[in-house]
Amino acid sequence: MEKNFKRTLVTCALPYANGPVHIGHLAGVYVPADIYVRYLRMRGEDVLFICGSDEHGVPITIKARTQGVTPQDIVDKYHGIIKDSFLKLGINFDIYSRTTSKVHDKNASEFFRKLYDDDKFITKESEQYYDPEAKTFLADRYIIGTCPKCGNPGAYGDQCEKCGSTLSPEELIDPKSKLSGAQPIKKKTKHWYLPLDRYEPWLRDWILEQHKEWRSNVYGQCKSWLDGGLQPRAVSRDLDWGVPVPVEGAEGKVLYVWFDAPIGYISNTQELLPESWEKWWKDKDTRLIHFIGKDNIVFHCIVFPSMLKAEGSYILPDNVPSNEFLNLEGDKISTSRNWAVWLNEYVDDFPGQEDVLRYVLCANAPETKDNDFTWKDFQQRNNSELVAIFGNFVNRAVVLTHKYFGGKVPADLKPEPIDSETLAQIPALKESLEANIGTFHFREALKDAMSIARVGNKYISDTEPWKVAKTDMDRTASILYTSLQICSDLAIAFEPFTPFAAEKLRKMLGIGIEAGTDHRKGEGTPTVNFFKEGESRALHTVPSCGCKSAGEPVVSWTDLGKTDIIKPGHQIGEAELLFSKVEDSVVEAQVAKLQATKEANAAAAKDAEAKEAASHIAEPKPEVTFDDFGKMDIRTATVLAAERVPKTDKLLKLSIDTGIDRRTIVSGIADYYSPEDMVGKQICILANLQPKVIRGIESRGMILMAKQGDGKMRFITPQEVLINGAVIN
Ligand code: MF3
Ligand code: ZN
Repeated sequence: MEKNFKRTLVTCALPYANGPVHIGHLAGVYVPADIYVRYLRMRGEDVLFICGSDEHGVPITIKARTQGVTPQDIVDKYHGIIKDSFLKLGINFDIYSRTTSKVHDKNASEFFRKLYDDDKFITKESEQYYDPEAKTFLADRYIIGTCPKCGNPGAYGDQCEKCGSTLSPEELIDPKSKLSGAQPIKKKTKHWYLPLDRYEPWLRDWILEQHKEWRSNVYGQCKSWLDGGLQPRAVSRDLDWGVPVPVEGAEGKVLYVWFDAPIGYISNTQELLPESWEKWWKDKDTRLIHFIGKDNIVFHCIVFPSMLKAEGSYILPDNVPSNEFLNLEGDKISTSRNWAVWLNEYVDDFPGQEDVLRYVLCANAPETKDNDFTWKDFQQRNNSELVAIFGNFVNRAVVLTHKYFGGKVPADLKPEPIDSETLAQIPALKESLEANIGTFHFREALKDAMSIARVGNKYISDTEPWKVAKTDMDRTASILYTSLQICSDLAIAFEPFTPFAAEKLRKMLGIGIEAGTDHRKGEGTPTVNFFKEGESRALHTVPSCGCKSAGEPVVSWTDLGKTDIIKPGHQIGEAELLFSKVEDSVVEAQVAKLQATKEANAAAAKDAEAKEAASHIAEPKPEVTFDDFGKMDIRTATVLAAERVPKTDKLLKLSIDTGIDRRTIVSGIADYYSPEDMVGKQICILANLQPKVIRGIESRGMILMAKQGDGKMRFITPQEVLINGAVIN
């Protein structure tokens, strides 16, 4: 089944540049992709790793509008943040460009034009909502109205965020334009459609027959789309932000963001390799892999392949590994609710601990089902796995080598069976790791790598070189020799998963690593060297240790599992801690941050609810006659004294001068006014209301209050002070 390819092109879903990247994105797409790429590079394969920002689409225009800036301002800001934080996490794309680039504008435009010229589109006229005041068509998100399902008055034309229903703008009750507030009208508009139905038979064969090996969630989603029957999909929009539709009569129209964005993979490759990009996209010997989240499956497995097929000269993806979603502390990650761990904040809060996040997100990756990230688990995995097993083992081996052998790898002077038995476990783990990465099972692959550390940790605990050293230096030499081989294994095996620690470890061991071909142009983390396209690179090549017998200090993936990776006499570097403990206070601070978010969200929700309640207008009452009204004796009066009615929360006892008499009125306004608030105030009263005894006090009359939907009340006072007893009618 395995076909031999000459090179692998790996793409990651282009993140929308309207917010930073969070751990859900990382776990689902970027961490696994980076692991995969690093692994292939270490095996000496020719790999290209492409990503960039997705900078078009309606949400970006909305964000710009609400912030009073341009869409370009928005994408400039987030493109910078995202790019920088990927780099800090060691996610080393060969290029991280953007869909507002010149190259992309031209490429996407030409792609459309080719399909247009080849008659691959159909056009359709439809009626769309149009804002007659702003003189523009309205994207679904730009129409708000009342949700037909739950009555939420602020539902969007595509979705009600209150009840979660998917809507179409036609379903909204009393739709309004978000731009002008005007009532939108229906207007005819013409758009281009990719008739996906034409590709259905081909897609059925290509996916359902030829790619049965795709992950079951991916395969399953494709099958249900195909079984449901494909419809033509609009590839243009009436919008002023995007790549203009490059044909006559398309003024005011741009390419639909999901049409232009995947073409961005190609554009970014062109930008990086203007001379040689085609071999990556058009040569049958290139294997194309798209890493995506599950909400992107239809676009990468059905729509984009149909576009590529229609164009005719491109290769198609060989696999589309897609993860499920990651939750955070038991709740769905949500950008609008700020319920997320943001990568840019993580790299600021945890400098030097980038690997921990990579490790935890991979160990916990939502590969087959949704999964949960918790700070407790983060701490636990760091402290009891990275620190206690991996770090602890390496530290003991390196420190003891310095203590007993001056930092020179000792010769294997007195081998015992446990040594070879221990080392013999590693090739099997290597094989399993390879099989797992090869099939995109990164969690399992990481477990295999961790098992190597466990093997080492157990070995050094069982053999106790610190005790043996008291009596038998030759045996101690063999134990440390063996331990240092396992350390070298770890320096190789962990390069894909925790590249910073692997790099540090190689520095400690005084070895470098051969890591394939680098296609980058002057960008990347400072931990890697830069080469011109096609040159191979060594990650951290060691200055000569001055040791003749050390042999070649640069190792590669093929060395993993050998029993003599690091040679006797080779000088190793100083011991450094690979990982450090995450203290309780640190995770508590993160949990507190989330708790604060939760509280802020709850407060905002309560606020919104109160506003909503306040705006509720009471039903009109039935008609009354003039005579009915005339019976009411409404007058001005002044409060002379006020006190709370004992043992009640809501009642005030007021002494009133009505101009006619002095009297007592008991009124339920204590939630809104204190006695001091009332004294001296001129108010209006209904003077001839039947007296009533309240809490043993005779109340004569009623104070007129205006009452809002949320229950809030205010007394009514004449606009200027009048005499008491003035009649109101
Ligand atoms: N921006 C999209 C998202 O975050 C992904 C775009 S992937 C591409 O869901 F293929 F269109 F580039
Ligand atoms: Zn609703």
